[in-house]
Amino acid sequence: MTEAVKEEKTCCGPSCCSEPAAPATEVVRPPESDERVQAVRDRYARIAEGTVSGCCGASASGCASESAVSLGIGYDPSELASVPGEANLGLGCGAPLGLLALKPGETVLDLGSGPGLDVFLAARQVGAAGRVIGVDMTPAMLERARANAAKIGLANVEFREGRLEALPVESGTIDAVTSNCVINLVPDKRAVFAEIARVLRPGGRVVISDILLNSRLPSAVEKDLLAYVGCVSGAVRREEYFALVGAAGLEGVEVLRDVDYLAGLIEAAPDEVRALEARTGVKRDEVLGRVRSVTFRASKPMR
Ligand SMILES: C[S@@+](CC[C@H](N)C(=O)[O-])C[C@H]1O[C@@H](n2cnc3c(N)ncnc32)[C@H](O)[C@@H]1O
Repeated sequence: MTEAVKEEKTCCGPSCCSEPAAPATEVVRPPESDERVQAVRDRYARIAEGTVSGCCGASASGCASESAVSLGIGYDPSELASVPGEANLGLGCGAPLGLLALKPGETVLDLGSGPGLDVFLAARQVGAAGRVIGVDMTPAMLERARANAAKIGLANVEFREGRLEALPVESGTIDAVTSNCVINLVPDKRAVFAEIARVLRPGGRVVISDILLNSRLPSAVEKDLLAYVGCVSGAVRREEYFALVGAAGLEGVEVLRDVDYLAGLIEAAPDEVRALEARTGVKRDEVLGRVRSVTFRASKPMR
C-alpha cells in the first residue's frame, strides 16, 4: 500500500501500527456502524474460508458449481482454465473484464476483488509492463487472493485491504476500473462512484457488472438482510444508479448486457429462492423481471 489509512476514530489497530510512516495521501475509512457492511464482511469471510457457498453469497447450500455459474454469466472456458479453481468462487454476476479491452502496460483496478479471478485474468492481458490492483474489505478474501497469486506466480498483481467508499489508491493513477457484483453491496454508492472518478486518470474507463432494479422491490425483500448479502436487496433502481455515475463526472454510459438476475438464481440456486420466499412471504413472480444483472461501460472525460 502506498497510502496511509486514517481511522475516523482512534488508531492504532494492528493494521495501521504496522504501516510505514510518511503517508503519500490520507484516506479516511468510512464508518463501520452500518449493520449491512458488517453482515457483508461476515458472509464473504465465511465464503472465503469455505464454511458456506453461494451465488453472490446468499446461500448456505445448494448453488450450482462455481464453474457453471461463471460460464453461465459469460466467462470463456479457456479463461477459467487458466486460473486456479480457488480463484473462482462463482461470486460474479457478469464477465466485465472481457469487455474492458485492456492493453499491455495498463494499470487496472478491480473493486471488491474477492478471490482474485478478474485480477488474474487482467494481469495476463496487461502483461509484465502493466499492473493490477484488487481492493477488498474482507481479510479472509484477501488472504485467499494472495495465496492464489503466489500459486500462479504473477508479479504484477497486488491486493489491498480497503473499502470502495474510500479507496486506498492514489488519485489519477488508474487506466481502467472493473468490478463484478459488488457495488450493490455498498450502502453509499455515491461515495463509490466519486472514488472511481478520483482514481481514474483523465480518459480512463470502467466496465462494471452489477445488480440494478427495474422497479422497487416489495418492502419485505428490501428489509431482508440475507437478500442484501445475496446481492438482491442492496440494489437500487437503474435511474438512480446511473444518476450517481453521472454525478461523479463519468460519461458515455453504455449498457452492454442486461439479464434477469432472479431467473438465473432460480436455475442456479433454487433452494435459495425458496428460502427467500419463505422468509419474506413474497412469491418469486412478484419479483421476476425487476432484478437485473447489468454490465455497463463509462469513461472519465479527458478534461
Ligand atoms: C459478491 S463478491 C464478488 C467477488 C469478486 N468480484 C468475484 O466476482 O469473484 C463481493 C466482494 O466484495 C467485497 N466487498 C463488499 N463490499 C465492499 C466494500 N464496501 N468495500 C470493499 N470490498 C467490499 C466482499 O468482501 C466480497 O469479496
